[in-house]
Amino acid sequence: MKDLSSSLEIRNLEIRIGSGTQVRSADLVIEPGRSMGVVGESGSGKSLTALAIMGLLPETAKVSGEVNWQGENLLRASADRRREIRGREIAMIFQDPMSSLNPAFTVGFQIDEVLKFRLGLKSKSQRRERALKLLSDVGIPAAEERLKAYPHQLSGGMSQRVSIAMALAGEPKLLIADEPTTALDVTVQMQILDLLTEIKRDRGMSMLFVTHDLAVAARVCDEISVFYAGRTVEKAAASDLLKHPRHPYTEALLRARPHDSNEARKKLFSIPGTVPRPSNIIKGCVFASRCEKVFPLCTERVPEKFGFPSGSADGSYARCFLLQKESL
Ligand SMILES: Nc1ncnc2c1ncn2[C@@H]1O[C@H](COP(=O)(O)OP(=O)(O)O)[C@@H](O)[C@H]1O
Ligand SMILES: [Mg+2]
Repeated sequence: MKDLSSSLEIRNLEIRIGSGTQVRSADLVIEPGRSMGVVGESGSGKSLTALAIMGLLPETAKVSGEVNWQGENLLRASADRRREIRGREIAMIFQDPMSSLNPAFTVGFQIDEVLKFRLGLKSKSQRRERALKLLSDVGIPAAEERLKAYPHQLSGGMSQRVSIAMALAGEPKLLIADEPTTALDVTVQMQILDLLTEIKRDRGMSMLFVTHDLAVAARVCDEISVFYAGRTVEKAAASDLLKHPRHPYTEALLRARPHDSNEARKKLFSIPGTVPRPSNIIKGCVFASRCEKVFPLCTERVPEKFGFPSGSADGSYARCFLLQKESL
């Protein structure tokens, strides 16, 4: 029987805010204890998809499709139920750690609040012990001292560690990390990536890791889903995706990846053309307007998910007519 104890399944998620369609059709499946990378250029709908899981989209957003958490469609859940799940079963960290920290209160006070209200720990001494353990788990030295610090007294890397500790305080089964290292220096970035990998492994948590950087995703994740213009265009095991990209967009992303670490990172990738905007109505494949391999069908119909190798059902797929063509 399928284990639903901490699985997340997103099917055909569509998000419309105002007159545009920001997320056209996102699909994601995360099995218990696994890490899924969500990769795509800026504006491809990664953060909105993450916020939809958390129930933190703007109130004006119109959302359809399914976000199934352990078999329950969260899009139909009450606000109370969502609040119950948020932080306790699913927690999130952001690019800017300050968005999860309150500048007016000490680190200790903020962790204590989570332990008291989310985890329901009544004993003050137990909470203190737990807070110290959390800080040491996320690699914060002199934890006693840090409990008394205010967020602005911490470096970027330290603040991100504290926000990870706060996310872990509720003992979530799924951690969503949205570009958690994008704002950090490269060395600190690597340390935080390793920390997240370690924490996920030690706690048996699942992780949804959002990044624009394919190399970062490959370092941290078991599997990768590639987003383009609000649609999931490919999903495969991380190592397989890097070796054998099937969707022309994934291929282009890989080609555009800087190889030399010196010139790296400054040079953003250069796929000719621009990403369609939410206001664009797209009849066929979202990547057709930039694809080198485009043929007439691509602009006429939306390609279905095509499993590979050759139509297999192991869960890897690309939404590209070329794969279908090859199998004919
Ligand atoms: N609150 C919002 N209202 C209207 N449009 C938004 C809002 N948030 C994001 N968008 C738009 O939705 C698209 C997807 O955004 P986002 O999910 O933030 O992309 P990503 O995280 O992949 O960079 C972008 O075109 C962005 O400008
Ligand atoms: Mg984003």
